[in-house]
Amino acid sequence: MDHDRSRDLYDRALSVLPGGGNSTVRAATEPYPQFAARGESGHIIDADGNRYIDWVMGLGPLLYGHDLPQPVESAIQSRVSEGPMYGLPTEIEVEHAEFVRRHVPSVEMLRFVNSGTEATVSAVRLARGYTGREKVVIMQGGYHGAQESTLVKGDRRAPRPSSMGIPDEFAKHTIRIPFNDTETATQVFAEHGGEIACVLVEPILANKGIIAPIEGYHETLRDLCTDHGSLLVFDEVITGFRVGGLACA
Ligand SMILES: Cc1ncc(COP(=O)(O)O)c(C=O)c1O
Repeated sequence: MDHDRSRDLYDRALSVLPGGGNSTVRAATEPYPQFAARGESGHIIDADGNRYIDWVMGLGPLLYGHDLPQPVESAIQSRVSEGPMYGLPTEIEVEHAEFVRRHVPSVEMLRFVNSGTEATVSAVRLARGYTGREKVVIMQGGYHGAQESTLVKGDRRAPRPSSMGIPDEFAKHTIRIPFNDTETATQVFAEHGGEIACVLVEPILANKGIIAPIEGYHETLRDLCTDHGSLLVFDEVITGFRVGGLACA
C-alpha cells in the first residue's frame, strides 16, 4: 500500500498543528496516521486511495456507517440552504428534544452540547451547584473527556492530575474508586457522603476494554447517592443509543 500522501500531509500538519493533529488520538498512529479522504458505507478511503474496513466509525457516532440515508441527507441540505446558524433558538431544537424525551424513558429534560467533554463538565458543575458540595467520585479506568475534575490518576488516597496544566486542587476533590467494587463505594460514602456532589460513571466501562457492571452495582450506586443526597451521572457518550435499547440509564 502506498502512503506517500498521508505522510506528506502529516509532515505539513506537524508545522501547523501541535502534534500533527487536532486530537492526540487521531494523530497517535506510528509512524504517521492515515489521512481520511472519504467514507463509503462500512469502508474508509485514505488520501492515497487505499480502502479499509472502518472499525472506527467516527469513534462511535456513525451508527449506520458513512452513507447517510437519503432522507437524512436531504434534511441536512435543506437546513443548510436556510442558513447555517442564527444565534437564536430554533423550532428544530424543541422538536429534537421532544423526540429524544419520547424515545428515551429516563430523559425528562435535556441540554444539547457540542462534545462529550462539554456534557460531563456541565454535569459535574450542575451537581456541584445543586448540592453545594465539591467531591466527585469517578471510576478507575473510566474516561469523561478533557475536564480538570476527571483527568486524575492515583488511587483515592493519593489523587493527582493526570496532565500538566491542571492544579492539584482539582484532583483533591476527585475520588477514584475501582469499578464494580461495591464495598469501596460504600466505604467512600461512609467517609465522605456529605461532601460528594456526584458519582460519574460509564454504565459499561468502555475506555479500558469493555467491562460490564456486575449484578446490582449500579443499583448500589443509585441507593448510595439517594441516601446521601448526591447525584448519579451516567456518562453515555459510548453506550448511548447502542446498548440497553436507547440508553442504559
Ligand atoms: C465515556 C466518554 N465520556 C466523554 C468523552 C469525551 O467526549 P469528547 O471527546 O466528545 O469530548 C468520551 C470520549 O471518548 C468518552 O468515551
